Amino acid sequence: MCGIVGYIGEKQAAPILLDGLARLEYRGYDSAGVAVYHDGKIEMVKASGRLSVVADMTDNGKSLKGTVGIGHTRWATHGSPTDVNAHPHFNEKESIVVVHNGIIENFQRLKSILMGYGYAFLSDTDTEVIAHLLDFYYKGNPLDAISKAMQRMEGSYALGIIFKEFPDNLFAVRKDSPLIVGKTSDGSILASDVPAILNYTRDVYYIENEEIVRMSASSMEFFNIDEKELIKEPVHINWDADAAEKGGYEFFMLKEINEQPKAVSDTFSPRIKNDIVDIEDLNLSDEEIRNINKLHVVACGSAWHTGMTAKYIYEGLAGIPVEVDLASEFRYRDPILPEGTLLIIISQSGETADSLAALRLAKKKGIKVLAIVNVVGSSIAREADIVFYTMAGPEIAVATTKAYSCQLIAHYLLAMKFAHVRGKISDVELKEMISAMRELPGKINTLIGEKERIQRFANRYLAAKDVFFMGRGIDYAISLEGSLKLKEISYIHSDAYAAGELKHGTISLIEDGSLVIAILTQKDLYAKTVSNIVEVKSRKAFVMVVTNESNKEAESVADYMVYIPETNKYFANSLAIIPLQLLAYYISLGKGLDVDKPRNLAKSVTVE
Ligand code: M6R
Repeated sequence: MCGIVGYIGEKQAAPILLDGLARLEYRGYDSAGVAVYHDGKIEMVKASGRLSVVADMTDNGKSLKGTVGIGHTRWATHGSPTDVNAHPHFNEKESIVVVHNGIIENFQRLKSILMGYGYAFLSDTDTEVIAHLLDFYYKGNPLDAISKAMQRMEGSYALGIIFKEFPDNLFAVRKDSPLIVGKTSDGSILASDVPAILNYTRDVYYIENEEIVRMSASSMEFFNIDEKELIKEPVHINWDADAAEKGGYEFFMLKEINEQPKAVSDTFSPRIKNDIVDIEDLNLSDEEIRNINKLHVVACGSAWHTGMTAKYIYEGLAGIPVEVDLASEFRYRDPILPEGTLLIIISQSGETADSLAALRLAKKKGIKVLAIVNVVGSSIAREADIVFYTMAGPEIAVATTKAYSCQLIAHYLLAMKFAHVRGKISDVELKEMISAMRELPGKINTLIGEKERIQRFANRYLAAKDVFFMGRGIDYAISLEGSLKLKEISYIHSDAYAAGELKHGTISLIEDGSLVIAILTQKDLYAKTVSNIVEVKSRKAFVMVVTNESNKEAESVADYMVYIPETNKYFANSLAIIPLQLLAYYISLGKGLDVDKPRNLAKSVTVE
C-alpha cells in the first residue's frame, strides 16, 4: 500500500504534493519522492526514509519550480526501501515519469520482454516496468500509450503520469487500487485517498477500474480503456481531515479489520498460478522441500499464535514434524536443530528484538531461515535466507488484525506447497484447497458484516473481570489469539485454555456468570469440546460458541451462538478470528479506551 498525489494548476506544485503526501503517510512511510515539470525538464527528488527527508531536500517543496507534478509515499512491496527504489520512476529518456500504488503481478515477464528490446532497469520495482512500457507504446499520443500499457499489465495500480511533451496535462489511471481526482479553485488534483485533497476541494470524482483521467489546470476528462470519453459526476465529501485519514473509521483497528478481505487476497493471489502454489521466487527447490525433516517455528505474540495454528497444518497436511517456540524462550536455551530443519520466523514488523535474535541464533547454528514478514526491507527480512512477504500493507493499530490474517495465509500456502511436493495431497486436493482459499475474502467480508450483532453482545460485557477462551487443536490456537486481542485492548483479564486442560486446574476459576468463549471449528473434536462446555455450564458459566454453520451439536449447550461459514478445516482460523477481533474492538470502544494505542504497548517491540 502506497500513497500517490498529483497536481496541475496555477500554483507551485511541489508544496501541494508534499502537503498531500503528509496526509497519506499512514499508507506507507519507508521512502518518498516527487517529480515536477519545469522549463522543458522533469525534475525528480526522492529518498528512502520518511517524507521529511524529501521535504528537507526541497526546502518544503519551494526549491522545485513548476506547476505540474506527482508525488509518492511508499510501502515497499517489490524491492527494499532504498533511494533507487523510491518513486517516481522515469523511462530512460526521462521524458515519462510515473508514481504507482499497487502491484504489477506480471512485472517479471514484462521486464524480460522489455529488456529484450534493450530497455535497461535501474530499480528492483515493478513500477519501473510501467515507465518503460509507456515509453514502448508512446508514439506521440499519451492516451494511446496508457491504454495499450493497461492491456498488458496484470495486477493492481493507481498511477499518476506526466509526459514531458505534454506539460499541460497530468494523467491518472486506476485498476483495483484507490484513486480520486478533483477540481480545485486553481487547478486539478489527484490522490489515493480523500485526506490528501481535503484542503483543496471537497468535490471529488471516484475513478473506477480501468478508467483514465486527463487533467489540465482548467479541465478534467475521463476515458475508458478504449479511449472512449465518459461522463462522471462528482461526490461531495463532508468528513473532517482527521476522520478522513482513517477512511472515516473512528480507529485504525476497525479500518484494518475491514481491510482483511483485500489483504488476504493480495497475499495469496500472486502466489496461485494455474492451480498450483507458486513460490518460485523464494528459492526453495522441490528437492529441499522433500528433504525437510523438521520445521521449527519461532515468533512472539500474535505471530506466535499463527505458528501455533500452523503446527496443526504442517503436521496434518504435509506430514512434517513441527516445534513452535516463543522467540524469547528459544533465544535463551540451546535449541536442538537437527540437520534438515527449516526455521520459520514470523513477524509483522520484521524488527521484533527477540525474533531477530532467534533468527541470528539459528543462522549461527547453520540452519536455513525462512521469514514471513510484512515490512519490506526490515531487519528480519534482510537477514533471513528466504522471505515470504505478506501483503497486509501498513498496520497502524497496535493490536494486529490484518497482518495476523495474512500470516495465516502464508502458512496455508507453504503447507499446501510442502504437502503437494511431498506427495501428501493430490493435484485434485490442492485444487480444492485453492478454491476454498479463493472464497476466504468473501467469507471474511460476510463475518465483518455481522459486526452490529457482536457489538450488542460486547456491550453486555464491558464490566467483565475475567474471560476464558477454550478450544482443541486449531481451535486452541484461535483461542490464544482471541484472548490476546481482548486483553491487550480492553484491559480485561483473559486466558486461553486447551479445552481438555480445564479440569486440571482452571475450572476452579469458573463461577456464576463467568464468560467462556468456546471455539469449535474442527468437526472431529466437536463432541469433546461440547463435553467441556457442559462442565463449565454446570458451574453456571455463560458460554458463547463460535462454530461452523453446519454444527448443531453445540446449540443446545451454548448461551450465545456465532456461526462462521464452512471452509476447509485448515482455514477455519481465518474465519473464526473475525468475530473475536470485533468482540475485543467493541469492548474496548464501549469502555472508552484508546483502541489503537493501548497502555504500556508499542507496535514494534524492538527491545527485550
Ligand atoms: O511485529 P511482530 O509480528 O514481530 O510483533 C509480534 C508481537 O509483538 C505482536 O504480534 C503483538 O503481540 C501484537 N500487539 C498483538 O496484537
